[in-house]
Amino acid sequence: MSEEKFIPEASVGTPQGKGSGSTMERRSFFKWLSIGWLAFTAATGAFFTVLIRFLFPNVLFEPPQSFKIGYPEEFEIGKVDIRFKKKYNVWIVRNEEGMYALSTVCTHLGCTPNWLDTERKFKCPCHGSGFRATGMNFEGPAPRPLERFAIHLADDGQVIVDKNKNFKFEKGEWGRSESFLKV
Ligand code: FES
Repeated sequence: MSEEKFIPEASVGTPQGKGSGSTMERRSFFKWLSIGWLAFTAATGAFFTVLIRFLFPNVLFEPPQSFKIGYPEEFEIGKVDIRFKKKYNVWIVRNEEGMYALSTVCTHLGCTPNWLDTERKFKCPCHGSGFRATGMNFEGPAPRPLERFAIHLADDGQVIVDKNKNFKFEKGEWGRSESFLKV
């Protein structure tokens, strides 16, 4: 007589089926955990980026508009001093009577001319305007002379240029005492 093994109904196929489902659930859980973690990291990164930009905003540090350039005797008579062109956008010129500060902005379309010492002129590289050491325009399309800035002596004897005040030749402003420093 053959003996039939009794297998309970409830256990048929259970171990394999149950284990597979659990693995799937675990995988799914870790997948969502990874996604959640990535999202959290991204959000935290974005938050700190915004926070840092808020704490350290993009501020443009411009050089001061009023500044000392040294003592008058440091400037040679008859020379155009180009030392302050890059930082302050001014040329300092000293002649027999005194000193003045010229703007480096071409009065045509705003390019920056170069001082050509051998030719004794400022030459604009954009459209060829030329200016004398005085700032007077004499060639090219520039419609008017370069502007001058206020210049005076500080208490310590140093020369101060103040770009808050400018003087235009065509308005007769070069005649104002502030536009020229007698030394
Ligand atoms: Fe200087 Fe045109 S901008 S000549």
